[in-house]
Amino acid sequence: MSSKFHSQFVCQQCGYSQVGWAGKCPNCGEWNTLVETVIRINSKQQKADTQPQPENKPILLNSISSQKSSRIITKIPELDRVLGGGIVPGQVILLAGEPGIGKSTLLLEIANLLSGKTLYVSGEESIYQIKLRAERLGTKNKNIELLEETDVDQVISEIDGKPQGLVVIDSIQTMSTTDLSGMAGSVGQVRECAFRLLKVAKTKNIPLFIAGHVTKEGSVAGPAVLAHIVDTVLWFEGDKNLDFRLLRAIKNRFGPTDEVGIFSMGEKGLVSANPQDLLLKNKFNHHISGTVAASVLEGTRPILVEIQSLVVPSKLPFPKRVSQGLDAKKFELLLGVLTRRCGLPLGEFDCFVNVTSGFRVTEPGADLAICMSIASSFFDKPLPQNTVCFGEVGLLGEIRQVQSQEKRVKDAKRLGYKNIINSQEFKFLNPAFKKYFR
Ligand code: TYD
Ligand code: MG
Repeated sequence: MSSKFHSQFVCQQCGYSQVGWAGKCPNCGEWNTLVETVIRINSKQQKADTQPQPENKPILLNSISSQKSSRIITKIPELDRVLGGGIVPGQVILLAGEPGIGKSTLLLEIANLLSGKTLYVSGEESIYQIKLRAERLGTKNKNIELLEETDVDQVISEIDGKPQGLVVIDSIQTMSTTDLSGMAGSVGQVRECAFRLLKVAKTKNIPLFIAGHVTKEGSVAGPAVLAHIVDTVLWFEGDKNLDFRLLRAIKNRFGPTDEVGIFSMGEKGLVSANPQDLLLKNKFNHHISGTVAASVLEGTRPILVEIQSLVVPSKLPFPKRVSQGLDAKKFELLLGVLTRRCGLPLGEFDCFVNVTSGFRVTEPGADLAICMSIASSFFDKPLPQNTVCFGEVGLLGEIRQVQSQEKRVKDAKRLGYKNIINSQEFKFLNPAFKKYFR
């Protein structure tokens, strides 16, 4: 096919294009919106544009036969769960996460468990480094081919030449095309390379995994730019210093986006984990004041986390408020409720709260457990053993109902937590404190 390329800098705000880069768009005046973009001049396309197009007619929805695409099961239960039952042929999946979180490890494990051929393209690690990882993971699959390459067009001709079962690109920030002058990892390069890879994956009907690095703020060129191009965006998160990892589907054209996969990073790579084992290791220490088990919803699954508080008399004019694993503003709000509605003089105390295992709670269902934990530390009285709390706490000091109450109760009882504190038992914090602490 005779097609020509040239690149121009196109403003992402107003669409203005020019040949050179400038800090500010000369048309709309916006800063840093000019992104290098490939302009395609396709002679066939140009010809077609001048000729009359065949009429494109609407088709009756009822007359379209449904195509059932068979999914490829990855045999990694938590990944299959997040993907909605496996990979769809031709699906393009972006696996985004901070460097060192375990993207390459997961990708190699997927390649190992798949029965078809896998082309693993690495732009950042040498084949010997990958071999070392493969040995550590106990990779036995003989159908994995490694390619050390950063030129995306070379990668595409490799995919074009040989039939593949799966293609892995690790990572998109290292890929570049000579049609653009920008460096690998620039917005223009990342977008163009992903676009070219996506085209070949779709025409060949090959599933494609693309690894993309993000910083803590999630702002680096890559995942944010790619999210609308790919079919599925999986976000890998967790504390690198701890062993548990969460895999969330942020976008999924072939499945749900409310599922979460839970993994544990061990000596032999990532394993699908039982969240309860991982997050409530301290199950038998619960007879200490300040510690409370909370049932929080991750995706559609309730999981148990441990919340710990320490309330200490303060000599400071502004007592300390330190929270780990929950929003600092939420923590202050709950302290306000406890002071005003429940009469705890927390203005004279330093308050520390921590969600153990590096877990982060973002759900209102954890409010009650946080309040119970602070109160338990303040009164220095532990909750009875095998107690789980969940519920939203309002500004009036009321305990409100949360999503999936029944599911949380059932799940907690199954794990042996018989005493459940929630909105069904108490409508306000005060009676709960009276029963357990005063
Ligand atoms: P990696 O997959 O290289 O991360 P990414 O591709 O996201 O940058 O994982 C790197 C970390 O994982 C590294 O700190 C070592 C750790 N790790 C294990 O703990 N166990 C293992 O079996 C492997 C392969 C890695
Ligand atoms: Mg990596």
